[in-house]
Amino acid sequence: MLAKVTSCALVGLEGVIVEVEVDTSRGMPSLTIVGLPDAAVKESSERVRAAVKNSALVFPGKRITVNLAPADIRKEGPAYDLPIAVGVLIASEQAWPQAVEDALFVGELSLDGSVRHVNGVLPIAALANQQSIKRVFVPACDAPEAALIDGLDVFPVENLGQLAAHLQGLRSIPPYEPDLDPSSLPHPQYAADFAEIKGQEHVKRALEVAAAGGHNVLLSGPPGAGKTLLARSMPSILPLMTIEEALEVTKVYSIAGLLPSDTPLIRHRPFRAPHHTISHAGLVGGGSWPRPGEISLAHRGVLFLDELPEFGTRTLEGLRQPLEDHKVSIARATGTLTFPSNFMFVAAMNPCPCGYYGDPVRECTCSMSTISRYQKRISGPLLDRIDIHIEVPRVDYDKLTAERLGEPSQAIQTRVEAAREKQRQRFEDTPLSSNADMGPGEVRKICQLDETGRGLVRAAMQQLQMSARAFHRILKLARTIADLAGSEGIETAHLAEAIQYRPRRTI
Ligand SMILES: Nc1ncnc2c1ncn2[C@@H]1O[C@H](COP(=O)(O)OP(=O)(O)O)[C@@H](O)[C@H]1O
Ligand SMILES: [Mg+2]
Repeated sequence: MLAKVTSCALVGLEGVIVEVEVDTSRGMPSLTIVGLPDAAVKESSERVRAAVKNSALVFPGKRITVNLAPADIRKEGPAYDLPIAVGVLIASEQAWPQAVEDALFVGELSLDGSVRHVNGVLPIAALANQQSIKRVFVPACDAPEAALIDGLDVFPVENLGQLAAHLQGLRSIPPYEPDLDPSSLPHPQYAADFAEIKGQEHVKRALEVAAAGGHNVLLSGPPGAGKTLLARSMPSILPLMTIEEALEVTKVYSIAGLLPSDTPLIRHRPFRAPHHTISHAGLVGGGSWPRPGEISLAHRGVLFLDELPEFGTRTLEGLRQPLEDHKVSIARATGTLTFPSNFMFVAAMNPCPCGYYGDPVRECTCSMSTISRYQKRISGPLLDRIDIHIEVPRVDYDKLTAERLGEPSQAIQTRVEAAREKQRQRFEDTPLSSNADMGPGEVRKICQLDETGRGLVRAAMQQLQMSARAFHRILKLARTIADLAGSEGIETAHLAEAIQYRPRRTI
């Protein structure tokens, strides 16, 4: 007899429907899986056999063939265990085919029949919803994640025996009811607050502008000036995510298998700070089992690269295309995969190997050629994509020991939020979410300058030898500064501040 059960494969961030067909026929007892399965799927036959037997069900002593269709999509991982087991039950008349109509199944089986966590349940549930499949059967531990998608009946499956009883109509599994309103969760505690950082007011201002419009920042200055501290305080001033953004981010973490078990929805912008020994695949994504890299894990949040010149040149060059496109394409034998990677790039570096070039107090011991070689590790095209270049000088003793606290992060975040609200209204019917996302078309429409402004930019372009990209980036940055100031138009002061963030000192 032939049984058909619906399941799902993941290609990048998107789900694709997979039909699991199970056929039983006379012959030597065996279980064969066809349809481009990887090793983990092939091993499924052993797990399914043991799980069925250990759940007080009968494993048919027949020749069983399992086909995963469509055959041109590679099937990875153990998530097909559950649909295969259900197919075997139907094909051996231990459950009725009607019981699986309009339903989708995913789950890994352990040998005793219990159902284990699988990655990517959120995009799988999203696909079910798109395809008007009303019921999804997922591992019990993943039910809160699937329940983030409205309009689905999510059935949390603890073990195969329980699922069989449900399908046989003996004892039904109650659909999962989310017990917690995600918007009622408390505000998180941040490791660092801007109030604790003494002085550095101009750096804090630059980081506020960056957070308000999603712009990229490079902090440079001598060791111990507070670059790492400042960058790591960023999460405390970032704007909240919209529900759509939160779902996008949660999908990425779901696929990477990094979703914390107690929080089904990621509500706070990610802050990723990989070490400089990270591999190219670790940063941009890829590998034989393609996973989102750090740039995708930082989607809608911040990617912080501390000690920027220590990262390999090839690794850094891998950032160029995603910084422009806000997504990354990974080539594979079976086609290309795309992951989203719209992140704010924050980097920190010393100006030279000894760290004191340009410092007013301590003398730099590097030769000019060493400094030049050091700075050349970061290519022009990458620097060009950074809107805000800011120097972080050392703070003097008096400032550092002053009792007075700075402005708390909460107050800065309120201003950032107000500026973001303006952007949300501006980009309401577009896929854009912040000023940094604007393309040349939007820049032309939205970032209009007056006569004085045009004169200022013309002069700056000549003096700083700016590229067309830098020109557009300045206009976008000026738009954010105007939004922070609550101004309708871009005024000369806003433009001047934006220009001042472009790099000027080169060797
Ligand atoms: N402006 C500041 N206010 C308060 N503490 C600071 C400041 N700058 C630096 N520090 C202290 O110095 C330490 C080192 O700073 P860090 O951010 O690691 O410097 P950098 O990354 O520039 O080398 C911080 O952990 C903090 O204790
Ligand atoms: Mg540091």
